[in-house]
Amino acid sequence: MMRARVPLLLLLGILFLASVSVSFGIVHHEHQESQQESREQNNPFYFSSDRWFHTLFKNQYGHLRVLQRFDQRTKQIQNLENYRVVEFKSKPNTLLLPHHADADFLLVVLNGRAILTLVNPDGRDSFILEQGHVQRIPAGTTFFLVNPNDNDNLRIIKLAIPVNNPHKFQDFFLSSTEAQQSYLQGFSKNVLEASFDSEFKEINRVLFGEGQQQQGEESQEEGVIVELKREQIRELLKHAKSGSRKALSSSQNEPLNLRNRKPIYSNKFGRWYEITPEKNPQLQDLDVFISSVDMKEGGLLVPHYNSKAMVMLVMNRGEANIELVGQNQNQQQQKQHQQEDEEEESWEVQRYSAELSEDDLFIIPATYPVAINATSNLNFFAFGINAENNQRYFLAANFMVGWSG
Ligand SMILES: *[C@@H]1O[C@H](CO)[C@@H](O)[C@H](O)[C@H]1NC(C)=O
Repeated sequence: MMRARVPLLLLLGILFLASVSVSFGIVHHEHQESQQESREQNNPFYFSSDRWFHTLFKNQYGHLRVLQRFDQRTKQIQNLENYRVVEFKSKPNTLLLPHHADADFLLVVLNGRAILTLVNPDGRDSFILEQGHVQRIPAGTTFFLVNPNDNDNLRIIKLAIPVNNPHKFQDFFLSSTEAQQSYLQGFSKNVLEASFDSEFKEINRVLFGEGQQQQGEESQEEGVIVELKREQIRELLKHAKSGSRKALSSSQNEPLNLRNRKPIYSNKFGRWYEITPEKNPQLQDLDVFISSVDMKEGGLLVPHYNSKAMVMLVMNRGEANIELVGQNQNQQQQKQHQQEDEEEESWEVQRYSAELSEDDLFIIPATYPVAINATSNLNFFAFGINAENNQRYFLAANFMVGWSG
């Protein structure tokens, strides 16, 4: 990604010219901010983790949740309508059963460790993924996910880009559980018998686990996240490749490691790691960049904006205050418009602020300037949509400064 700065003097000149009209908008908005109820409405870019996720599946071993549609919150981010965010959490020694989906996924490990197995037409690939590893899962690829650790929960965020429908995607599970049927059960008896060259009874027993309860064998699994035995995990680990190898692979399938390369910006207040589509085939056709940013408490990520990328920020650890600046059509003028058509449109500056904590999501539209104040040591992760040839403009000399002591 190219990086550009606005020369400070030029910026000051622009600021001075703009200062008269800008101040009114900000003061006006601060008045509104003090009214608690209107805060969420005023800030359509903020998705707190406890309110905006919809549970897809949940049992004692973990859960799968999907974030509300972006375009339902505000028209200002309508172009994100074809992107969904999924969160997966699982307990130690568990397995998310094999399935595929009608969506491309970009998967990021936020916490813990995973064994990810991808089933391709020409075989299987198993990878050990750790915190900061990113893996692309092309639409239709059957995969399963294991949390091999004895103590740590696994936490994963997936960017989903649906194929058939701009808003929705479906998971097709291979095995039958109490939570859902195997998709193979959708086929007729004749098709199954002919395809697998077996008796229907046998197919039912082997593929769908039917008739086992009566024979006193293990009953059907309770859900799509199940417990695994230590021996099974050890066996899976033997066949998995470590994703932390240094070698930059050109393969579409190898995981990317955000943290084993040099930060693109770094100083005593923080580090910014980033992988862009220009150099990485995994990210090219998705046109997405990914970033991971560490900040020390008391650090300020100075105002900056992206020229064309829309950024989804996921708070991973710690807390921050964020300020995003956008433009809103002046409401009074809007009313006048209805009477006198000739008048020019007028916009006022609006500040959208939020206190972010773990698991919260925040959307930063392209060209909207943003600043982040670290109120504790923190790490956040970001997907940048529309990433190719994006430029990031910092509006001050240092990318991060200190504000305390
Ligand atoms: C950052 O947030 C803290 C706590 O709210 C506040 O005291 C401080 O003034 C803020 N710093 C900046 C630069 O906004």
